[in-house]
This record gives sequence, C-alpha cells and structure tokens, in this order.
Amino acid sequence: MVILGIETSCDETAAAVVKGTQNASRVALLSNFMSSSLPLHAKTGGIIPEVAARAQIEYILPVIKKALKDANFNEKEIDAIAVTNGPGLIGSLLVGVETAKTLSYIWKKPIVPVNHLIGHIYANFVRANSKFEIRNSKFPALALVVSGGHTDLVLMKKHGDIVWLGGTRDDAAGEAFDKIGRLFNLPYPAGPTIEKLAKQGNPKAFRFPRPMIDSDDYDFSFSGLKTAALRLTKTIEQCNNVTIADISASVQQAIIDVLVKKTLNAAQKYNAKSILLGGGVAANEALRNQFELTAKRYTINAEIFVPQKFLCTDNGAMIATAAFFNYNPVNWQNITANPELYFD
Ligand code: KG4
Ligand code: ZN
Repeated sequence: MVILGIETSCDETAAAVVKGTQNASRVALLSNFMSSSLPLHAKTGGIIPEVAARAQIEYILPVIKKALKDANFNEKEIDAIAVTNGPGLIGSLLVGVETAKTLSYIWKKPIVPVNHLIGHIYANFVRANSKFEIRNSKFPALALVVSGGHTDLVLMKKHGDIVWLGGTRDDAAGEAFDKIGRLFNLPYPAGPTIEKLAKQGNPKAFRFPRPMIDSDDYDFSFSGLKTAALRLTKTIEQCNNVTIADISASVQQAIIDVLVKKTLNAAQKYNAKSILLGGGVAANEALRNQFELTAKRYTINAEIFVPQKFLCTDNGAMIATAAFFNYNPVNWQNITANPELYFD
C-alpha cells in the first residue's frame, strides 16, 4: 500500500510517500519533502499564525507535487491520502485538511485523518538506515512526545491502542528551549542552537530546578525554567559567550534529567518492551545519549528507539506511516481540522 502523507499543522508544509506491505513492521520511505516558513518568523522570534497559514497556501500544491515526483508515483498509483487534522494552528491545519479532502474527492482515493502527536510516535516506524532496520519495536511501548507545543507520555499497547499517562501542565520542553533562547536573542526555534552552545558549556555551572522530577505522576512543568533563567541573567553583570554556553548546558541538563527519569520510571512501571521518542526535541543528541546511559541503571528490558533526526521535526512521512499502521479511512465530508485534538 502506498500512502501520500500531508502535514501542515504549524510552519512546515510537508508531504511524503511511504510504502508498506502486509505484516510489515516498518514502512519504506519513498519521498519526503518539506518547505518551511520559518525564515519569515525569524524576526518576530515566534510563529505568527496568519503568516504561517498564508505560506501554507503558497507551498501546499508544489510540495505535494514534488513528493509524488520524487517517489516516482502519480496520483493514480497511490492507494490513500493521510492528513494531519490536529492539533496545531487552525489556519495552517485548514490548508492541509481542505487540500487533502479535495484531492481525495477528485482522485477518488480514501482519506485517513491523523493526529499530529501520534504521527510523531510513528516516525519510529519508518524504515531508517540499515543500522536500525533489523530492530523492530515491540509492545507494550512507552512513547515520549517532546516538541515545541507538547510534552506527553503515552503507553502504546499495540497499534491504535494508546493510553495517555501524563503531560506538561504549562510549557512544553521545546517551548522552554525556545523561550530561554529568546532571553539571549538566539534564533527561533532555539533548541538546536542551545544544543550546540551546550556542547561548549558546563552543565554543572548553574543549578536549575528539575520541576516535578519526583512527583508521583507522569506530568511535567517547564515554565519555571524560563523564570529561573531570567532571574539568573539579572544577577550576572555581563552575559558573555562562556556564560551563555554554561547556561545552555545547565538548562538543557535540567530538561533532560526530568524527561529521562520520568520516562524510564514509566517504562519500568508498565513493563515496556520499547521506548519510542518523538518530536523535535528528540533530535537532541544529549537527550538520546542520556536515555541510553541511564536506562542501564534501571531494571527494564526496553529497547530505546529514536527516529532519524530529519523525522523528529514535523514531516509528512510520520503522518503517512501512522495512517498505514492505523488504516481507518473516513468519508472526506466528515474530516475537520481540530486545533485542540489530543490523545484519546
Ligand atoms: O516537532 P516539532 O518540529 O514541532 C512541533 O510539533 O512543535 O518541534 C519543534 C521544537 C522546537 O521547540 C525546537 O526548539 C525543538 O523542537 N528542537 C530541539 C532540537 N531540535 C528541535 N530542542 C532541543 N534540541 C534540539 N536539537
Ligand atoms: Zn510536531
């Protein structure tokens, strides 16, 4: 089965073609193309929904055409269309949803709506390079979705059977990176830059709180970190490059400590056989490494899976893949964009 995946929940306009065969544990990635309006938002240090939506309209058709062309498929040869129907920015979501509905109608192809958050988890089910190909994730799996808008822990008993365990009560982990980056005028989104700066810094230079690290639940809270960083900058006379690198390393370590401990605790409690990371923050190498290292100290039998970096941030492949493993087409008239869509 060949699926065209369309993702337009925020500032990326993305489309991809994946191919899956019956009983496959991973799909093959035939094409993956993305156009981002990020440079338009750089000056404002955050995404302006109106600007993002207008860029979606401009990019959507060329991006879909390019994804089909790269995959060497025409519209007659695909079997279905998958589209993100939420959560996200309403204006951006509408462009993808309405385009996919129109294409489904005129091409006479089934359409599958996909929850963006579940999509991030399915980036782990795209066949990556040969090193990872032989490892297949087993259930039950514990998934951590860490992006700019979400931080959620879910238990996946099998495809289509997902139980939400907890999530952030305020800022998402990526949002914490982005807001702290703004204090130092780092380009938006700041996560990748903070990771780079952190490599030159000392993670023990400043002591940031580890919010909710020992709480008896699977919730998170990252908004205090931005306040702590702001307070810290006010006590430092001049923030030079060394100080900024030390703050980056220290705050990154605080975020990682919380994410790793809470996820591994949940994996232990639910006897997870796999841990699946997903979302933009999962591209962070220090996070990936700490997961591997800390897991050795736990009595868990779970293998850790991380998507290839280009599949951590928003993309069409994860949407097409989620649709393949949860193939449930609906009448196009019944699909609506839902900015508040959540797990369940
Ligand atoms: O999943 P994503 O592309 O979009 C959302 O659905 O939100 O995630 C974007 C988020 C941003 O907050 C960005 O700063 C963060 O992921 N991010 C990172 C890294 N790469 C992206 N955070 C930490 N380290 C990174 N390497
Ligand atoms: Zn995302």
